[in-house]
Amino acid sequence: MKMWSGRFRQPLDSDFERWQRSYGFDRRLLRYELAASGAHAKALKTVGVLSSEELISILQGLEQIGESAAASPSFLDDEEAEDVHHFVEKQLVVLIGETGYKLHSGRSRNEQIAADLRLYVRAAIDQLRQELADLCTVAADRAESAADAAMPAYTHLQRAEPVLAGHWLLAYVEMFLRDAERLADCRKRLNVCPLGSGAVAGATLPLDRGFMAETLGFDGSTANSMDATSDRDFVVEFVSALSLLALHLSRWAEEMILFSSEEYGFVALPEAYSTGSSAMPQKKNPDLLELVRGKSGRVIANSVALMVAVKGLPLAYNKDLQETQEPLFDSAETLLQMFPLVTGWMKAVEFHFDRMQQAAQSGFMNAWAAATYLVNRGVPSRLAHEQIGKAVQICIERGCELKDLPLEELRSLSPAFDQDFYACLELPAVLAIHDVPGGTAPARVRQAISVTREKIELLREEVHAHA
Ligand code: ARG
Repeated sequence: MKMWSGRFRQPLDSDFERWQRSYGFDRRLLRYELAASGAHAKALKTVGVLSSEELISILQGLEQIGESAAASPSFLDDEEAEDVHHFVEKQLVVLIGETGYKLHSGRSRNEQIAADLRLYVRAAIDQLRQELADLCTVAADRAESAADAAMPAYTHLQRAEPVLAGHWLLAYVEMFLRDAERLADCRKRLNVCPLGSGAVAGATLPLDRGFMAETLGFDGSTANSMDATSDRDFVVEFVSALSLLALHLSRWAEEMILFSSEEYGFVALPEAYSTGSSAMPQKKNPDLLELVRGKSGRVIANSVALMVAVKGLPLAYNKDLQETQEPLFDSAETLLQMFPLVTGWMKAVEFHFDRMQQAAQSGFMNAWAAATYLVNRGVPSRLAHEQIGKAVQICIERGCELKDLPLEELRSLSPAFDQDFYACLELPAVLAIHDVPGGTAPARVRQAISVTREKIELLREEVHAHA
């Protein structure tokens, strides 16, 4: 039986009927639909719409539906169900008879879908934050085992200054930890229960909304029934946070692809996560990284699709809102599937620290340190910059490095140069002068690794508390 056929004299056009269904994608909400329906049923009992026996029979029916779905995915195949709400009602009636039709008393699918989606997003946030903690742990491990290995840092993709490889890896951890925090913020705001909002004006029965919210682990109830039944801010916010996360993963992937090229040679692609070419026998391609970069496009596109879908909607529920489901599912699932692979890649990748270290010692990446030497001897910074710039120019002409210039020649550029200048050009000295919190001096990086580990631990504790 349809959920709404009474006032219709004609059957629906069969193509339209199929086309407007959401069951094909909202069937993944089944567990949340069952949980929310259980809470609603209990509230119905309290207001006297269900007897104790009817409540028990409904709860058992809901449980049975969950078990059947878990036991056999084909149980969910249904050519007639309009949406997951209809599917549950149909199955309930098959299992317990007409009492099943009592479950919908005083409620509307508008509040149900709002509740199911909040529960879905909340669960996805918890899983993603767990995945982020795992990835950050592996990255922090890799940063720690990189020890004092240095590499070039680039600005404008030109060699700039040397940094520790650990410092470079921790830069990504910072991005991912911010992503985890953004998801936590989103979770805080979405964790209110729309049940009891009815179709638009509030439930038609005096249901205990606080009880339903608590039963489902919400922090409270939504404040306005019109807003609650039509609000998809939490979906937009979640997918926007995912876009930023996907963007970070994409930047990471892009850099790893660059660094794995023969030209850089900093990264050896793990075979377990690479593929070959059907034509060129020598190839090992960074497909995992390329797909991570490529899939960020669809996550970002989904967030645009969502905003465009909701931007013109008058209050309250409109069927357009059904169109917010697929971009949401696609984004969450794209990232959830990607994460274990990214973490596996990060664990398996081999860094060529020797190549990095070698690259860190040439290309005048000690030039700023050289200018700092002069600054520390009282030379005004702008003049020191100019003098080292001239020295670099001489080296470029001769094809040598700063350390190869004789002291007399340097003195002709500035009398402030002395024999101890050469020590300040060495890689360890160059790294050591960046001795500020957040800088790349080895002691600072070691400290940053332990602070990072504490932050990851905190994240894990929060995720655990929600489990
Ligand atoms: N499948 C619908 C959706 O996703 C469920 C709500 C239907 N409500 C309605 N009034 N037709 O939005």
